[in-house]
Amino acid sequence: MSTLNWNEFNQTEVTPEVLVHSGMTGLENLEMGAARIQVDEKKIINCRADLNQLVPFKYTWAWDKYLAGCANHWMPNEINMTPDVAIWKSLDGLTEDERLIIKRNLGFFSTADSLVANNLVLAVYRHITNPECRQYLLRQAFEEALHTHAYQYVIESLGLDEAEVFNMYREVPAVAKKAAWALPYTQSLCDPNFHTGTPENDQRLLRDLIAFYVVFEGIFFYVGFTQILSMGRRNKMVGTSEQFQYILRDESMHMNFGIDVINQIKIENPHTWTDSFKQEIIEMIRTGVDLEYEYAVDTMPRGILGMNATMFKEYLQYIANRRCAQIGLAEQYPGAENPFPWMSEMMDLKKEKNFFETRVIEYQAGGTLKWDDEE
Ligand SMILES: [Fe+2]
Ligand SMILES: [Fe+2]
Repeated sequence: MSTLNWNEFNQTEVTPEVLVHSGMTGLENLEMGAARIQVDEKKIINCRADLNQLVPFKYTWAWDKYLAGCANHWMPNEINMTPDVAIWKSLDGLTEDERLIIKRNLGFFSTADSLVANNLVLAVYRHITNPECRQYLLRQAFEEALHTHAYQYVIESLGLDEAEVFNMYREVPAVAKKAAWALPYTQSLCDPNFHTGTPENDQRLLRDLIAFYVVFEGIFFYVGFTQILSMGRRNKMVGTSEQFQYILRDESMHMNFGIDVINQIKIENPHTWTDSFKQEIIEMIRTGVDLEYEYAVDTMPRGILGMNATMFKEYLQYIANRRCAQIGLAEQYPGAENPFPWMSEMMDLKKEKNFFETRVIEYQAGGTLKWDDEE
């Protein structure tokens, strides 16, 4: 019986330059007998300590969100789509404006969630050097897969033209603009030659995290969510609406996790948060509001369901103020109020006993529907 020779397993060395600049990845060679990890050695980016050891926990907020995400587990095919199929196929069940809203939103979200998942897995994950945050990122990546699954399930149930829906982000300008805006913020991070560890690159990571978590998931989703949930409140497309309600709850958690990561990076790397950088972020958020407003106008050329594009302008400004405050920036739209206060209630599934009839109540029975309170 041969003895185990550890040196055999250490054929390839990680180049020192990479470690100096970027911290660990979790795939380095094992260092036998190295000192045990102390919690103070953990860092959210540029960490030098082994990333394969979940404990000791440093960022309990990340672990708590991982647990909450698991407790909120749901599956798209558990939701009954029969009423939606009936109303979609009936001649007078929906107006043309309502059909446009359904199709445009399926067009945007069906590809947007894949884009978010690809950004997480191929760009963000590598640069977040903390096991408890990575644990949440893995959960989030799976949830994004469920969301894409949900949109496909709706598209298939309604018998929509799949090619038309999945190509909207390349064919319909208001849909395409939002995806096109986000792409540069993931392409920079998934460059294999990109490493954090310099002030400029740490700022680049922070900028890209804000682009995806605060603008993309925190602003670009909200016109669509509001439109679809409003339809559900009027007893139209209730299955689709229920899918979106579960997705909204997940997305709210994603955004809150992202904001915690952003704020933690700021705390550990205060040199990144310069005045000129803050101004750049403010401009990004303002652009996000403008693009999402364009989307509202495009999806809703006429008023519908007691909503109109102007109300969305104020709603987006209200949301943007919240987002700015959450990452420590001044509110940009003084006095903006929330024209859709019912959206906050929509996120708390416990309040929706009468509206959603099926799985919601069962999930509630588990007593696990606690989640963050963001809109
Ligand atoms: Fe998603
Ligand atoms: Fe998400």
